[in-house]
Amino acid sequence: MPSHDIDAVRLELLERVKVSETPRDILRAPEFKDLYSAIGSLSPEEKGPYGKSINELKQAIEAAVDERVAILESGEVVALDVTAPWDANSTRPDFLPTDEGSQHPLTKEMDNVIDIFTRMGFEAVESRQIDDDFHMFGSLNFPENHPARDGYDTFRTEEGFIPPAHTSTMQNRILVAGKERLEAGGQIAAISYGRVFRNEDVDATHEHTFHQSEGVFVSKDATLGQMLGTLRNFFEVYYGQSLRIKTQPAYFPFVEPGLEFMIEKPAVLGGKDGEWLEMLGCGMVHPNVLEAAGIDSKKYRGFAWGMGVERLVMLKYGIEDLRHFESAKLNFLRKFA
Ligand code: DAH
Repeated sequence: MPSHDIDAVRLELLERVKVSETPRDILRAPEFKDLYSAIGSLSPEEKGPYGKSINELKQAIEAAVDERVAILESGEVVALDVTAPWDANSTRPDFLPTDEGSQHPLTKEMDNVIDIFTRMGFEAVESRQIDDDFHMFGSLNFPENHPARDGYDTFRTEEGFIPPAHTSTMQNRILVAGKERLEAGGQIAAISYGRVFRNEDVDATHEHTFHQSEGVFVSKDATLGQMLGTLRNFFEVYYGQSLRIKTQPAYFPFVEPGLEFMIEKPAVLGGKDGEWLEMLGCGMVHPNVLEAAGIDSKKYRGFAWGMGVERLVMLKYGIEDLRHFESAKLNFLRKFA
């Protein structure tokens, strides 16, 4: 019974020692008495190991107290900054080396993605992290109660706001903002990027929070061929090599036809012959999506795509577990510094 009590007492007392001005008092903490008095209720076989654990605990606390006393007696003044990144494993306030901070790999790679598309002439807008039903579903041709909504199972606040499950929530805004330019003879060419959220059981390939990048292009005569060229160009620049591509049909309410876009995994990234990787969803923008933004679908047509950014980055660096990105593990993050 009481061994987890000992662990709890250890944590509690070590924390107290760290900040105490009179650390020796902690050697007389009532918690020790409580632990000793539990001995009476143990069976003879339990008593030995239990007593031994208490002795080990005492020694650990004594060592921490000695260390703390030495710090106090040295007269060293330690500035207390409650916002500072402490090294939580230390009994004295060692600061982590903040001057060695670096950008998160996803931030870096997202910048890379944005650069490639902006060089092709796309504008870039960050997506919202809280949105509404119209942008998440209605404007994207998901009818009310349509089962396709299930594929985008996300969270919802009590007020009905939605942390979006995809960056497609930005399409309607991009289309509305670009309508005038389109009607003046121009084109709409924009990407959106940002954090998205899904109600997922977390494992090596699923996270409740991840990132997407999405594009939409509209003109008088946009074609699937232009889309395939744009995407192929993107992937070739991103991975720095020529790639074979293929597509297969897929269903997304906001495009018709809808496609899955695949690349052949390059040998230098460990790909075997004929190993295809599905990289994104895409297609020709559904007329209802254009109309929801006030764009005449008889006159204009567009293509759009959306991809997961973690997947892109994992392939590039051979990262095997998606959870590393949100783990705040320094030895993972430093590999990208
Ligand atoms: N929003 C889709 C998803 O998260 C991806 C996607 C597919 C975006 C097709 C698009 C598209 O813009 O045309 O699964």
